[in-house]
Formats: sequence, C-alpha cells, structure tokens
Amino acid sequence: MAERSPLVEGIDKDGDFLDVGCANGLLAADVAEWADQRGFRVVPHGVDLGQGLIELARGRLPEHSRNFSVADAWTWEPDRQWTFVYSLLDLSPEELWCEWVRRLLSWVEPGGRLIVGSYGSRSRGEPPVDVKRVLEDCGLEVAGWSAGGEGPITRFTWVNKS
Ligand SMILES: C[S@@+](CC[C@H](N)C(=O)[O-])C[C@H]1O[C@@H](n2cnc3c(N)ncnc32)[C@H](O)[C@@H]1O
Repeated sequence: MAERSPLVEGIDKDGDFLDVGCANGLLAADVAEWADQRGFRVVPHGVDLGQGLIELARGRLPEHSRNFSVADAWTWEPDRQWTFVYSLLDLSPEELWCEWVRRLLSWVEPGGRLIVGSYGSRSRGEPPVDVKRVLEDCGLEVAGWSAGGEGPITRFTWVNKS
C-alpha cells in the first residue's frame, strides 16, 4: 500500500480508470478503494495479455467483469476513451517510451488524465525510472507526480488531456 497508493494522488475526480497491463486486477480494485477513501468514485477497467490473468480479474471484480478484456496494448484499438488511463513504462522498450505514452494518452478522454508509473526492485537494488523526466523529454506537460516506498521504490507522474 505504501508503494502503490501514491498513484491515487493523481485521481482528482470521479470516472472510469483503465489499468493497461492490469494482471489479476488487484491494482485496479485497490485504486477504486483508495480513490473512494479520498471521496472519488472510480470504476475499474483493465486489459492484459494474459487470458488467465483476466479471468482472475473478472473473478475479483464480478460486478465489473465486462470491463476487463484480453488485449495486446501495442495493437489494441479501443472504440472508447477513459477518464484515467494508467500503465507502466516497463510495458515498452526504452527506445519506444515516447510512442508508448502518446499511445496511452490517445485513450484518455478530454479533461481526463494519463498516469504513468515505474516500479523499482528492492531485491535487485534498482530504483524506479524518473517518469517525470521521461514525460518531459517526450515534450509532455507534467501536471503532477508522486512517489512511494523507501528510496522511493515507485514513481508516478500524470499528464492532463486537454
Ligand atoms: C507488473 S504487472 C502490473 C500489474 C498492475 N498494473 C500493477 O501496476 O500492479 C504488468 C502486466 O502487464 C501485462 N502486459 C505486458 N505487456 C502487455 C501488453 N503489450 N499488453 C497488455 N498487457 C501487457 C503483463 O501480462 C502483466 O500482467
């Protein structure tokens, strides 16, 4: 919780939250709960490459099971946008980070927000990527950022969609 919950500092209103690379849906479920504690109603959505992971996410969040689907985010062409889109830099090779975040930003509805995270590894002694610097280097205007755990070990940065 200390490492992941700073993500919700980027949640500033009610809306639909898409976790790109949602795995078993735990983070999307937690974000909905943490946002609720801050007074915002967030509806969890997610996509992941893994069929088994999506089945676990649907089982975890049965009332939102239709919001979770199997997709490769690099080829997926969704027919809608979300208030909040969250993903990790790690889902992209470093040389494609700018392409990755612009792809994610295209799935954010006007007035919404893209939140990008990076997790370091305590066991490997690796810090998280400086996401704020990466997004600024991609020419994006950063609206805010947060960090969690000791070191810190997680970093989150967000960009508003006009
Ligand atoms: C480290 S987990 C992140 C889980 C959760 N979002 C979180 O932050 O705690 C990364 C997930 O991204 C998924 N993933 C990796 N590449 C993907 C892609 N191109 N499209 C969709 N999901 C992908 C993996 O299957 C894995 O479940």
